[in-house]
Amino acid sequence: MKKNLTKTQFPFVTLKYAQTLDGKIATQKGDSKWISNKKSLVFAHKLRSQNQSILVGIGTIREDDPQLTTRLVKGKNPVRIILDSKLSIRLSSKVLKKNPERTIIATTNLASEKKIKKLVNLGAKVLVVKKKNKRVDLCDLLKKLKKQKIDSVLVEGGAGVITSFLKERLFSRIVIIIAPKIFGKGKNSVDESRIKRSFKAFLFSSKKIYKLGNDLVFDGILANAKHSSKTKN
Ligand SMILES: NC(=O)c1ccc[n+]([C@@H]2O[C@H](COP(=O)([O-])OP(=O)(O)OC[C@H]3O[C@@H](n4cnc5c(N)ncnc54)[C@H](OP(=O)(O)O)[C@@H]3O)[C@@H](O)[C@H]2O)c1
Repeated sequence: MKKNLTKTQFPFVTLKYAQTLDGKIATQKGDSKWISNKKSLVFAHKLRSQNQSILVGIGTIREDDPQLTTRLVKGKNPVRIILDSKLSIRLSSKVLKKNPERTIIATTNLASEKKIKKLVNLGAKVLVVKKKNKRVDLCDLLKKLKKQKIDSVLVEGGAGVITSFLKERLFSRIVIIIAPKIFGKGKNSVDESRIKRSFKAFLFSSKKIYKLGNDLVFDGILANAKHSSKTKN
């Protein structure tokens, strides 16, 4: 059956990440903290405060154990969404420590009931969505988030998640911070091993390119998004 994704079915999705000149989002050891500068970090927190939710994959939670807050700016902390198909999240993760009721773990029926209960007991929300290739089905997740009145999602990574959102063209805005660094080895922002064919070109209806200190920012609104939602700026 042909999918009929209407304007209102999905939240507005912004894909945002920081990379080096050679396209790395983390060092070989998985460290991404030192890619962008302080101004870019403040900008990233401002972006978070402008979105109702922020989404990352379980790889990022495992590697960085981030708080996913807006602590560098004034503004409300967004709801955190973690993609975790098998519920492997550690109960000691920071996103489960402070305001766990503002953390949604998106999982699938591969998760155990026992772990679901443990997370719910901690106060977190567990959202079971459809599976696609044994992972969280992003279309189903976005529809469910919209039904929960989440109108905007800031997707922050890591590589696996960025690749999925690019592959499925499930975003309307993309913000890429490019730091004047070259890592050589490291984690690529796009996981080529999961790309069978080149992407159909992404065209932008509007784009801004500017500097934040020594970092460059590309901020574009997709012209040919698979789904479109109200333009946000
Ligand atoms: N520079 C930046 O802007 C930035 C931002 C964030 C992170 N990072 C870096 O990125 C690295 C982590 O990247 P990563 O690729 O290892 O992990 P990731 O993208 O954070 O998480 C990937 C994992 O999420 C789960 N997942 C569930 N549904 C998914 C779906 N539909 N599509 C994709 N993933 C799905 C999968 O695990 P399950 O199958 O177990 O569910 C998958 O292995 C870290 O080194 C971190 O520092 C950099």
